[in-house]
Amino acid sequence: MCFALYIIYAAIEGLRVGSVNRIRRPLGYIMPGDKKVLGIRQEDYGGLWERRTPFNPDQVKKIVDQGVKVLMEPCGRRAFPQVAYEEAGAIFTDDLSEASLIIGIKQVPLPSILPDKTYCFFAHVIKAQEENMPLLDAILKHNIRLIDYEGWLDFKGVRLDSVFGQYAGRAGMVNILHGLGLRLLALGYHTPLIHIAAPHSYPSLAAIRDAVKHVGAAISKGAIPKSIGPLTFAFMGAGNVSRGAQEMLNGLPVEFVKAVELKEKALNGDHKKVYATVLDCEDHLVKRDGGKFDLNEYFKQPKLYRSIFPEEIAPWVSCIINGVLWNYDHPRTLTIENLRNLISQTPKDDGKGSPGTPKLPHRLLGVCDITADPGGSLEFVKDCTHIDSPFGLYNINDDSFKTSTFDGPGVLVCAVSNMPSQLPEEASSDFGDLLLPLIPDLLKSDATKSLSQEDLPKSIYDAVITSNGKLTPKFAYIEGLRAKAGV
Ligand SMILES: NC(=O)c1ccc[n+]([C@@H]2O[C@H](COP(=O)([O-])OP(=O)(O)OC[C@H]3O[C@@H](n4cnc5c(N)ncnc54)[C@H](O)[C@@H]3O)[C@@H](O)[C@H]2O)c1
Repeated sequence: MCFALYIIYAAIEGLRVGSVNRIRRPLGYIMPGDKKVLGIRQEDYGGLWERRTPFNPDQVKKIVDQGVKVLMEPCGRRAFPQVAYEEAGAIFTDDLSEASLIIGIKQVPLPSILPDKTYCFFAHVIKAQEENMPLLDAILKHNIRLIDYEGWLDFKGVRLDSVFGQYAGRAGMVNILHGLGLRLLALGYHTPLIHIAAPHSYPSLAAIRDAVKHVGAAISKGAIPKSIGPLTFAFMGAGNVSRGAQEMLNGLPVEFVKAVELKEKALNGDHKKVYATVLDCEDHLVKRDGGKFDLNEYFKQPKLYRSIFPEEIAPWVSCIINGVLWNYDHPRTLTIENLRNLISQTPKDDGKGSPGTPKLPHRLLGVCDITADPGGSLEFVKDCTHIDSPFGLYNINDDSFKTSTFDGPGVLVCAVSNMPSQLPEEASSDFGDLLLPLIPDLLKSDATKSLSQEDLPKSIYDAVITSNGKLTPKFAYIEGLRAKAGV
């Protein structure tokens, strides 16, 4: 019976997924003869805040239960305790050399690279990022088969990195609500936003949702002073980051409106609500010659387009949540000059303010640049910020960025480049759920064999960046980018 089911499953999977080679076995199952030692790296690259890990203990148990030996490097910063992994059957060791497949989240420091292995991690090399070119060289030299999570589609076509985009959005939204509470206090206003803390200070996402709801209830009762309210938010982009951020704002009494409606809401809306608008490309980019918007054309020839956001939408926005995919030749969402104009447009005192509260210096109070692209779509965001010091005040008058205070002139900026690390338990678990079904096929990979002789499903084959000491044909363009940039 089991064998019959196996044959049917194998046939269906073979038809459904396709492969560079023939599919000889069902996806997601360990078969006799597969290599069965998996190594899980400690996260030792970059700052001290990386607490994510590819699998939680329950997911490790599922792998161990399939007959895989799981070796883990000790790492006291992991979001889950070592003892829980030990109970799941993992073996802790500093030596992963027995593993054919080694997985982690962030880049591997050069001295830690073990030759002839299949590695999965975020290498950040596909745009020939200069800082990671020594890593790429070491990977090629040591015959690593590098499979990168960036853009990797699982068997159902879901991008593995989409999980972290959503968590970046969630964490970033909480960050900026927390920061706005502090900034408004410095401007002379007590608001319920002061009761939202930094995302990492909550034990779970559920606890964050409760806190945001609590604040939402206070706003519904009129706790935002009339002279501030209603607060308005513009979400730039409509992808993973934006969706994650919108989801957190939903805990407040938010009304989503079209961009053209924001002005009316900002001027005459209900201060017991907040208002938000989501802008994808077609919502603010217009063709310079007056022609019709064409998304494909925009991405091919972005210079033909300009943004109407600075003049027509930004004057009515209290806070920008930036989640676009931006390239250096794309029009910026806000230039430094645009910001200067915005800051000079102080809202008129219409006499509707709450007694005892001062007037706002300007409507735009804060920016959460989740794209964390310094000098990118928001030109005045010149540096990323850090989880332990996530905010700064950008002062257009002297082009300064002060990170130690919420007091003084400027726009609050938050641009943390590793946002999802603030919610490591849930981000790791959701990521592990996507990665888990790929593990049996990944364990078949043998970096000492030619990639073309391997029996890997298309999903995995397509994500291989290097193998047998070379870039794969799909990623050979990286060489050209390097030559052009001289890196
Ligand atoms: N700070 C962090 O920790 C962190 C974590 C994850 C992702 N990111 C970054 O966030 C960005 C977005 O990631 P994502 O997963 O949401 O990508 P995505 O592809 O899911 O979404 C990008 C969105 O931007 C839109 N877009 C592109 N150009 C635009 C423009 N000019 N105006 C408005 N919308 C525009 C696209 O149509 C799409 O809706 C990426 O740059 C990514 O590297 C940062």
